[in-house]
Amino acid sequence: MNPKGSIDLKSKPQCMIHASFVYTAEKVVQKKGRLLRESDLVPLKDGAVVYDSRRVIWVGPTSKIPKKYFKIKVLDLENRRAIMPGLVDSHTHLVFAGSRSNEFASRCAGASYAEIASSGGGIQSTVRATRDASFEELLEGAIRRVKVAHAFGVRTLECKSGYGLQHDAELKCLRVVQSLKQQFPYMTFVSTYLGAHDVPRERSKKSYFDEMIHRTLPVIRKQNLAENVDVFIDDGYYSLGEGKKVLTAGKKLKFKLKVHADELTNTEASALGVKMGALSVDHLLKISRKGIQALANSRTVATLLPGTAFSLKVDFAPARALLDSGAQVALATDFNPGSCYSLNLPFMMHLGALYMKMNAAEVFAATTLNAATALGLKNKGAVLPGYDSDFVVLPYAQFEEMIYRLAW
Ligand code: NIG
Ligand code: FE
Repeated sequence: MNPKGSIDLKSKPQCMIHASFVYTAEKVVQKKGRLLRESDLVPLKDGAVVYDSRRVIWVGPTSKIPKKYFKIKVLDLENRRAIMPGLVDSHTHLVFAGSRSNEFASRCAGASYAEIASSGGGIQSTVRATRDASFEELLEGAIRRVKVAHAFGVRTLECKSGYGLQHDAELKCLRVVQSLKQQFPYMTFVSTYLGAHDVPRERSKKSYFDEMIHRTLPVIRKQNLAENVDVFIDDGYYSLGEGKKVLTAGKKLKFKLKVHADELTNTEASALGVKMGALSVDHLLKISRKGIQALANSRTVATLLPGTAFSLKVDFAPARALLDSGAQVALATDFNPGSCYSLNLPFMMHLGALYMKMNAAEVFAATTLNAATALGLKNKGAVLPGYDSDFVVLPYAQFEEMIYRLAW
């Protein structure tokens, strides 16, 4: 995959010509990423894109480039490479220290995720390592991971905190994300405060709750360290009522909302997310009919994380029921050290197509326009005039090859 960062981007317009296909996503945009048929991809054959460092300026057949763009710097893709919008990974737990490879071995030997968590492993083990790590160590790890994601075509990454579970440690993780924004100016980062990922073992839930709501959230708002607030509503983590309190506090401070919903058990957290106007509800492995109905015509994106179901060896989310109900569906990696240690978003497309019966247009929208919507970003997900110019040039002629490849 040709990293856009390797092209010397000047603010003057530049031009790529003879793309085998340009996946402009015009029809996907028209249909707002919902109820898509395979034929809605409608790529432009032998296409050209004129762009500057920020925006796409013109898109059309190579034979029809307007005269005024004739003289600008040109890259010829020789009808062998396609152009598509940069991928958006809208759900990752990118910032953490330590490794849980020992847990993976236990899971291979038959232990469940819940058993590991209740014996002191799971999120808590990453919390210990993350608290012990310096800002520099965390940043170094995060930079390595971003480079991996970039190589898969990802140009926008959501990054959650949630392995600090304590005021200073949570802020340290969010500052790492802030620093990524400076390190990778040609990428977009959206940061999410997930203080309510678990409860710290050394104190009561009540005192941690007070800290999150009365201390940490106001500082994050003041220092502009996150755009979103997320909460893990599930058995053994936060109840529906507790989740609602965290989200309400976030909303009051003008954060956008996201919810880890109906993952391990059904708690009707998806319906709560919709009711509260969340940008997205994520996971949905155990979503009910009621939850699906709530999402169907709502503006809340249903974000599915098939790598997690795959890695935990549990059933995939009911993608078809969601898609057919008219819900706007996104796919993301859920990259984290416990339940999905993968940054490979194209692999999630592969799983979506193979195990969740998503068609190519649905998979495309799920990792571009719909994922951007799940982050509240309006100028991403299409290669059309006015959209961000963070498109990717594929090392093959058709987008479908990206879904077809198994983890490479
Ligand atoms: O999204 N569901 C909660 N959090 C992560 C897993 C975190 C971990 O195991 O470290 C998830 O799957
Ligand atoms: Fe997650």
